[in-house]
Amino acid sequence: MRNTVLINKENKWQEKFASNRKLIIVEDINKNNILIEENTYQAYFQFKEFLKEKGIIIGITSAFRSVEDQEKLRNELLEERGEEYVKHYVANKEESEHTTGLAIDLAVFINEKYEDETEEAYTLLEQTHEYLKDFGFILRYPKEKEKITGYSYEPWHIRYVGKIPAKIIGDNHLTLEEYLKSYSGVLYIHKEKDMTSYDVVERIKKIYGIKRVGHTGTLDPIAEGVLIVCIGEATKIVELLTAEDKEYVAGVKLGILTDTLDSTGKVIGEKELPNYLELEKMISSFQKTYLQEVPIYSAIKVNGKKLYEYARENKSIELPKKEVTIKEIELLEENKNTFLFKTLVTKGCYIRSLIRDIGEELNTYATMTSLIRTKQGKVSLEETNTLEEIEKGEAIIHTIEEVLDYPIITVDEEEEEKIKNGLVLVNEWNISNKVLFKNKKNRLLGIYQKEENLLKTWKNFRNDL
Ligand code: DAL
Ligand code: ZN
Repeated sequence: MRNTVLINKENKWQEKFASNRKLIIVEDINKNNILIEENTYQAYFQFKEFLKEKGIIIGITSAFRSVEDQEKLRNELLEERGEEYVKHYVANKEESEHTTGLAIDLAVFINEKYEDETEEAYTLLEQTHEYLKDFGFILRYPKEKEKITGYSYEPWHIRYVGKIPAKIIGDNHLTLEEYLKSYSGVLYIHKEKDMTSYDVVERIKKIYGIKRVGHTGTLDPIAEGVLIVCIGEATKIVELLTAEDKEYVAGVKLGILTDTLDSTGKVIGEKELPNYLELEKMISSFQKTYLQEVPIYSAIKVNGKKLYEYARENKSIELPKKEVTIKEIELLEENKNTFLFKTLVTKGCYIRSLIRDIGEELNTYATMTSLIRTKQGKVSLEETNTLEEIEKGEAIIHTIEEVLDYPIITVDEEEEEKIKNGLVLVNEWNISNKVLFKNKKNRLLGIYQKEENLLKTWKNFRNDL
């Protein structure tokens, strides 16, 4: 179960949510034993201690409720308070997020007793709301969001989601529904060696509690450097970022060839180095567009099967060739049988293959020993954050507008409606490729693309944030 698991009128409780969740026993305000999710209680305890310093004493009236508990409570409240109250404040049995153990109903200690529904209690509870995010909580049913959450304002009901989602939700005055559906963010990550790009994506999914996460341009475990990762709505631009030029610094060893074309592979050939190597000149000659054979150890599919699967099964297959452009290439360092070079290449270029091709031209073998992606599009290594920084909430979250280099146009309400409805627009701005449209509230509406003399929707964004 994710901390951000969504339970509401549309998304019901599912048994599977209980699988990796630990409930612990704690005391409610009446000193009765109740259950609560373990991390939620730890966060609550810190929140409570913090508020105590401020002179506010909080207690729990309710936390975990099983589907049966919820049904019982609902029936009791139907009797006691009637249908109208229940409609606005009490969920159906499988539609309450109390079933997760991540929700807490609070009360505050006033005049020797705990209260939650008096005016004084509301005032005190509201004084605690600004601190919720610092402890990983959100106010789950805020004012003026009834249409989205399905319930009236509940100043007492808080929900644990984890610190990073709580900060985003709190800072942007969102509901959990809006966060999960409409959030958009781009992270410039410094991927470390020995991690796959997939590993990075999985970590980001966990940290942000969002399932829609995608990386742009794979970096193999041997490689480190710039990996741009898109979250939520920003996954709609993955293909644009993947298509961008990339800059690398690569290390090479001459005289050996491996099956993977890099030093993680098995040595499959050795060759003497020629007496005279015109390395600098040879490298410069690679500044060109050419047909590059893709490596067998790659995820490229031929006849529906990934190339590395053919390699593993020892099956021979003709390797496809792709046109790539080496825009810039420069020798940085040279030793006896190793060298380091820097290059700027177009989409789809494999540096391992480029190195193999350089080796061939030098009449020897060449294998990649290290790889750093120093740039992707306009994002350079200096602007990246490590996963540790991201985990601590210290990372910069970029917007789609920041990472893309297309013109940005702010439109009026009339045009906003047209864009939201995906209508074709006249290219009155002389756009040559793509354009980003924003509304007057500075929200990104969509990306349009020039087609003949018109502008057509390329992607529209949910923008209730
Ligand atoms: N009061 C909230 C909506 C619940 O019953 O879960
Ligand atoms: Zn509640």
